[in-house]
Amino acid sequence: MSVKILITGGCGFIGSHVVRQFVMKYPDYQILNADALTYAGNPENLRDIEHYPNYVFRQTNIVDEKAVEELFQSFRPDAVIHLAAESHVDRSILSPLDFVYTNVIGTVNLLNAAKRIWIDEKNNSASRLLFYHISTDEVYGALGETGYFTEDTKYDPHSPYSASKAASDHFVRAYHDTYGLPVVISNCSNNYGPNQFPEKLIPLFIHNIIHKKPLPVYGDGLYTRDWLYVKDHAEAIDLIFHRGKTGETYNIGGHNEWKNIDLVKLLCRLMDQKLGRPKGESEKLITFVKDRPGHDRRYAIDASKIQRELGWKPSVTFEEGLSLTIDWYLENTEWLQHVTSGEYMKYYQKQYEQ
Ligand code: NAD
Ligand code: DAU
Repeated sequence: MSVKILITGGCGFIGSHVVRQFVMKYPDYQILNADALTYAGNPENLRDIEHYPNYVFRQTNIVDEKAVEELFQSFRPDAVIHLAAESHVDRSILSPLDFVYTNVIGTVNLLNAAKRIWIDEKNNSASRLLFYHISTDEVYGALGETGYFTEDTKYDPHSPYSASKAASDHFVRAYHDTYGLPVVISNCSNNYGPNQFPEKLIPLFIHNIIHKKPLPVYGDGLYTRDWLYVKDHAEAIDLIFHRGKTGETYNIGGHNEWKNIDLVKLLCRLMDQKLGRPKGESEKLITFVKDRPGHDRRYAIDASKIQRELGWKPSVTFEEGLSLTIDWYLENTEWLQHVTSGEYMKYYQKQYEQ
């Protein structure tokens, strides 16, 4: 009997890589991608696999309790991989409630529906409903110059985004501790790679360099992030899904810390080379702007648990991953143009509203 997996947020950046990985690598699995198609959801991200026989898309808003219940009752998943979220910190500062609705209430709606299926199927020995929640290192707050986030680091979120993700993590653990629902959580550092919406640092700056627009560096530019290539994150999710221990948390990170300003200068150098522009041309676009309120100074993940227990480590260096990412954006100008113009919404209408 094939395994039925419900993946939420599969039309987003990380979700699309996870959906592709599961659909292509496991032809025996049935994958249902449930996504509301917010501004961040782009069906074009999955154009190459949308006709696979083991893949189905269902437009669903996880805030809609009834729609979630109907989805679970009709599909009756064996497992849920939950990625749907409002994901951008700057948007959360402008509009915190959207983050509460999707990240907190949406997650609880999924937990309730999963719990009902799990209780129904509990006596069926073949059933192993697993609720896998994808989360972020931002729940741990900010580090100083030294130290790393481990799975035991106390939660200390600062932005409305990270507060909403922390709340969702707590609910997932509460459903495990209170009702016994089988859950697993992973907390990952900053992802980069193909298909990332150009509001996040790396794709926004690639877009702006192409168009010779200013590169707005927040504050003094000395904020540090730990960057991971998105396909390495999808690999880690695959491993945790299949071999992670129920009830556990796994931190995922790239061992790859960069101060924002150093990263931006590297990006400028690589882009000048690839675009055949004179050395130093793109660095002139760097513009220091007002800081993000509540800006966390440094994130860095201790990923030794997933390495030790599951044998995972990143497969590409940052220079390789960044080069692949820039090449992808330069080769996929149509994708970038559709996203920045809003054209990608029409792709959705053509495919799914007939
Ligand atoms: P994204 O913004 O690119 O995609 C989010 C997806 O969720 C979109 O397809 C969107 O349409 C969908 N969505 C949003 N609200 C929804 C709703 N109410 N109902 C159904 N679908 C909805 O996000 P991402 O960067 O791919 O992040 C995916 C997950 O990974 C999130 O949970 C995020 O917190 C987590 N995460 C992201 C990063 C990162 O660096 N991007 C790092 C660690 C963890
Ligand atoms: O750490 C994991 C998190 O990484 C994820 O949970 C989030 O979903 C994801 O958006 C990301 O959050 P960040 O806030 O770290 O990512 P962002 O790309 O927005 O910013 C990266 C750094 O660059 C941060 O220090 C802010 C800075 N920045 C960002 C933008 C968009 C700038 O200096 N200028 C910018 O224009």
